[in-house]
Amino acid sequence: MKRKRSTYKSKKSTGKALTITLLLTGLLMTAIVVWIGMNDWDVSKTLRQVDIGKTEEPLPEQQEIEPEDVDETETPEEEREAEEETPPVEEEPVEEEPPAKVEETEKKSEQQTAPEKPAKVEEKPKVTNQPQTSPNKSGYIEGQKLPDEPTYINGILIANKKYPLPSTYAPGENKEAREAFEEMAAEAKLSGFNLTAFSTYRSFEYQTSLYNRYVSRDGVEKADRYSARPGYSEHQTGLAFDIGEVNYEKYWASNKFGETEAGKWVAANAYRYGFILRYPNGKEEITGYMHESWHFRYLGKEIAEEIFKRNITLEEYLGIE
Ligand code: DAL
Ligand code: ZN
Repeated sequence: MKRKRSTYKSKKSTGKALTITLLLTGLLMTAIVVWIGMNDWDVSKTLRQVDIGKTEEPLPEQQEIEPEDVDETETPEEEREAEEETPPVEEEPVEEEPPAKVEETEKKSEQQTAPEKPAKVEEKPKVTNQPQTSPNKSGYIEGQKLPDEPTYINGILIANKKYPLPSTYAPGENKEAREAFEEMAAEAKLSGFNLTAFSTYRSFEYQTSLYNRYVSRDGVEKADRYSARPGYSEHQTGLAFDIGEVNYEKYWASNKFGETEAGKWVAANAYRYGFILRYPNGKEEITGYMHESWHFRYLGKEIAEEIFKRNITLEEYLGIE
């Protein structure tokens, strides 16, 4: 009986020891599993830590890479050109088409920046009327009679101090030019400019009264620099458009127009609608007239674009300068 009890006691302590061992083993196994888990389930990484007795160094933080700087400060071509323009000659508004008040000290332009290619015309332009003799100081040919027909050079109608029009030539405003102007005005409106053509076709008689008025005011020499004698005005062709801004009459027929945002827009864009600035700054010797930032001539898109891009006058384009 005694023996039985001691056997029972030893069995009980053996069971207890077994339970404790199992518990410890369980705990140890759990700890190992958790440790391996902390090392991204990488057994070799865990074992390396056992070897060196410490945790792995964290990777250095990744540096942010800045995007390279981009230069977005380029000035549009047309703005640069506008900045180079010489200040215009003072104007005095008069009735329908106020003329320029001529100043003796008008500056020659430095605006001709693009190299000029030779005029793309035939060697000898096909001129339907030849000027009679050489011009006088004001650019006119003394004693020249008005012709019976207008002059076309390589198919382009010309009206300047050497090539006048018949007094009877009265085509009215050119329809194609008017449509092109309206198209341009519609587009200018989208940019906030309300353009108007304040003087287009002028009859021989109307030009006579205008010119005479300017001669009485400024004298022949000065008037000849900004107003055409009767029969010599491009306005008589119906293809010349004097452009200004609605409600800004003070800039009409004034070179101040060329300094306004609207004037700059027209100078830069008119060619896209077939117009050229007919009397550019610094070209008086060639065109016969001082700079007029408001006077545009319709030539059609192709020719206007070429003249604009080559930075030349109509006379140079036609080879009659
Ligand atoms: N103002 C321009 C030159 C004309 O009178 O036709
Ligand atoms: Zn004009």
